[in-house]
Amino acid sequence: MLEIEPTIVDPEKPKKIEKPKGKIEFKNVYFKYPGGEDYALRNISFTALPGQTTAIIGSTGSGKSTLVNLIPRFYDVDKGQVLIDDIDVRELTQNELRKYIGYVPQKSVLFSGTIESNIKYGNENLSDEEMEKVADVAEALEFINNLPKRFKEEVSQGGKNFSGGQKQRLSIARALAKKPNIFIFDDSFSALDFKTDLSVRKK
Ligand SMILES: Nc1ncnc2c1ncn2[C@@H]1O[C@H](COP(=O)(O)OP(=O)(O)OP(=O)(O)O)[C@@H](O)[C@H]1O
Ligand SMILES: [Mg+2]
Repeated sequence: MLEIEPTIVDPEKPKKIEKPKGKIEFKNVYFKYPGGEDYALRNISFTALPGQTTAIIGSTGSGKSTLVNLIPRFYDVDKGQVLIDDIDVRELTQNELRKYIGYVPQKSVLFSGTIESNIKYGNENLSDEEMEKVADVAEALEFINNLPKRFKEEVSQGGKNFSGGQKQRLSIARALAKKPNIFIFDDSFSALDFKTDLSVRKK
């Protein structure tokens, strides 16, 4: 692992986003997975405006996760551009870029620790009051309140001691805790029932 050269590298003269708004633009994006034969994404162009929710719909394997993974630069495009506030993501450091993004992956990931450490992962300065608030918005507060140690409850490796829906809610709470300009939800409501799903969206 130590000998592997990262393919995603920071630019030598990085730009900065002065006043983050959260506009995302794809310009004629083509993307092929390393070693893949065919393009997973072909000529994708769209703009997601600040203050709006943009939904990407498609059948399984159509490239939805692939598309959103290009925004925090988990992969780089082969052709075209991904821009945030009109700046190409490759012109920002990964640190600068990801500061503005709250990303809830399709498969929720929890870390060993406590519920609190998992929620505060993206924002150490979050107060306990705010932590309750984000847990409430993510519809996680009710089940947390039913646990003996509440936010101090232990999370085992990979979050094995929580159900799929509970993991998903905690991972939504973690993204909210960061207070980012851009939220990316990759099928993040799939393990929630319709009522809970609706309630999270409303809040
Ligand atoms: N890490 C990877 N390496 C190589 N090919 C991949 C990788 N991840 C996805 N693919 C391929 O890229 C295509 C798009 O996959 P992607 O996961 O983006 O689909 P999706 O629209 O998110 O599907 P789902 O609705 O099932 O989540 C698929 O053909 C898949 O096999
Ligand atoms: Mg997907």
